[in-house]
Amino acid sequence: MCGIVGILARDAAAPQLVDGLKRLEYRGYDSAGVATLEDGRIVRRRAEGKLRNLEASLVAHPLSGRTGIGHTRWATHGAPTEANAHPHAAGGVAVVHNGIIENYRELRAELEGAGAVFESQTDTEVVAHLVAQALAAGATPRLAVQQALKRLRGAFALAFVFEGEEDLLIGARRGSPLAIGHGEGEGYLGSDAVALAPFTDAVTYLEDGDCVALSRSGVEIFDEAGAPVSRDAVRSAVASVVVDKGAYRHFMAKEIAEQPEVVGHSLVRYVDMTTGRIRLPAGSDFDFSGLDRLAISACGTAYYAGLVARYWFEKFARLPVDIDIASEFRYREPPLTPGGLALMISQSGETADTLATLRFCAAQGMKIGAVVNVPTSTIARAADVVFPTVAGVEVGVASTKAFTCQLSVLAALAIKAGRDRGVLSENDEAKLVSALIELPRLMAESLHLEDQIEKLAPTFAKAQDVLYLGRGTSYPIALEGALKLKEISYIHAEGYAAGELKHGPIALVDENVPVVVLAPYDALFEKTASNMQEVAARGGKIVLITDQEGARHAGETFATIVVPKAYAFVSPLIYAVPIQLIAYHTAVFMGTDVDQPRNLAKSVTVE
Ligand code: F6R
Repeated sequence: MCGIVGILARDAAAPQLVDGLKRLEYRGYDSAGVATLEDGRIVRRRAEGKLRNLEASLVAHPLSGRTGIGHTRWATHGAPTEANAHPHAAGGVAVVHNGIIENYRELRAELEGAGAVFESQTDTEVVAHLVAQALAAGATPRLAVQQALKRLRGAFALAFVFEGEEDLLIGARRGSPLAIGHGEGEGYLGSDAVALAPFTDAVTYLEDGDCVALSRSGVEIFDEAGAPVSRDAVRSAVASVVVDKGAYRHFMAKEIAEQPEVVGHSLVRYVDMTTGRIRLPAGSDFDFSGLDRLAISACGTAYYAGLVARYWFEKFARLPVDIDIASEFRYREPPLTPGGLALMISQSGETADTLATLRFCAAQGMKIGAVVNVPTSTIARAADVVFPTVAGVEVGVASTKAFTCQLSVLAALAIKAGRDRGVLSENDEAKLVSALIELPRLMAESLHLEDQIEKLAPTFAKAQDVLYLGRGTSYPIALEGALKLKEISYIHAEGYAAGELKHGPIALVDENVPVVVLAPYDALFEKTASNMQEVAARGGKIVLITDQEGARHAGETFATIVVPKAYAFVSPLIYAVPIQLIAYHTAVFMGTDVDQPRNLAKSVTVE
C-alpha cells in the first residue's frame, strides 16, 4: 500500500523521484523518503507526513546523486515517524518496500542475535539487514537480494540501491505490483505505470516472484527459481499529464461533479446507443447463459457496488449470487463450481484482499471476470475477462465516480445476463437500457442539490452518530453513505437495512442523531416510510432523500432532499450523488483533509 520508485537518471535523481512519488501519494502519505548515491555513498532524506515535507527537506539539503530510490508510506509496522520512514539502510544497501514481511519478528530476532542494530520498528528493515549480511559474506548485490528473498514470507515489492554501485537498481516482487520503465540510457522502477508516466511509456510488468537488475544499458530479469527470463515490454496508455483539481477546491468535489460525464463514458462502452441494446466492449464478451451461480467479491465501496449488483443479477437474470467482502470470501471456503464466474470489482485493480480472492477462485477452476478502472492493474491482468469502467483517474481517497461507474457497468452486465439466460425479452432490455441512457442527465440534475445539501452540513457536523437507512438497492447505498461520511468527516456513521433498525439499532436514536433515509417512491416506499415514522417518534432528525412523489407522501421530516424521478432500477446511481455531497460538505465544514483523510490510502495492497 506504499508507493515505491527507483531511478537510474542522467542528472540528479531526487527531483525525478519526487515527481514519481507525487503520483504514488494515493498509496499512502504517512511519510516519504529518498536515498541517492552521493559519490558512491548512500545518503537519505526522509520526512514524516506528506510529500511536501520531504520536498522542503530536499530544498534545505539537496541531493545530487543520479541513482536513487523513493517511497511514500502507509504505515503498517511502526508509527508514522521519520525513523520508520523508508528507505531503510544497513551495511551498504538501502531498500524501499511495499507490502508486509510476515515473518519479520523471527528474522529480526535472528539478525539481532547476530549483532545487527535496528533503528526502526518496521518489518522492512529486516530486508536491509538480510541483504547486508549476504553482502558482507561476499555475495554480489543480486545474489544477496535473491538469498534474502528466499528468507521472506509475505506479499511485497522491493527496490534497492547499493553503495558504490552507480549503475545498478534491483527490484523484486511477490504479491505486490512492480513495473520496470525503459528509457534511453536511463532505467526506472515503480509501483505502477502511473508513477513512471513522466519518464517513459515503455513498461514491463514483473511477474510474481521476479527479481530484476537494472543498469543504464539494459535489464536482466530472473524468475523465482533464479533462472533468467524475458518479459515483454508494453506501451503504457497512462497519460503523463498530471491530474489537477481545475477550479475545484478538492479532487473529491471535482470527481463528484464528473460523474454524469464518466458514467456516460462507461455506458457508451456497454450500450449500443443506436440500437438501444447491450453490447459488451471488444475483448470483454461473456455468455452468462450456462452459469448456475455467480460469485462476487470486492472491498469497501466496490463491495457495496457488488451488493447492488446482486439485486440486479438475481432479479433480471435469475442468477443466484454469492457475495462477500474479499477479506472474508476465501476463509468461508465456499463451494465453487469449476467453470462458474467469479466477478471481482476494484477501482485500483491492486487491492490485496480482492487479488487473493481472485487467486482463490481461479484455483477452484472458476473463470475470473474483473470490473476494474485501471486496465494495466494486477487484477485486470490476472482476470480472464475484463469489464472496464471508464472513470478516469480517481485521486480523492474516498471513492465517488469509480463507484457510480462500477454500478453502471454492473447494471449493463446484469441486463446482458438477463438476455443471455432468456429471462429478459428484447422489449425488457430496451426499457432497462433506456433507463441507463438517461442516467448522465439525471445525475447532473442531482448535482443541482448541492446548495441545499451544503446547508445541512452544520447539522451533520454537530452529530456524534449518523444513521443511514435504505431498503432493496437503497440499502447498499445507505452503507456507502455511512462509509463516505465516516471516512472523510470522522463522524461515526452506520448504514442499516430500514427494516432491521427496530431489531436493535433503534436504541441509538434520539434528538441528536440525524437519520438519513433513502426512499425512492417505488414498491418499497410504504414500508421504508413506516420505519421512518418509528425513528421520528423517537425524536430522530430525519433527512429524507426521495423523489417528488415520495416527498408528497412522506409526512414531516427535518429536511427533505428531492432527487429526480428515475426508473427504480437506476435509483442507486441517482441516490449516490446526495450521499456523497452530504459527506463532502460535512467534511469541508469540519475542516478535515477531504482528499487524503487520516489513516487511509487510495490503494490497499496489504491484506
Ligand atoms: C472508500 C474506498 C474504499 C475502496 C476499497 C477497495 O471510499 O475507496 O473502500 O473502495 O479500498 O478499493 P478498490 O476499488 O481499489 O479495490
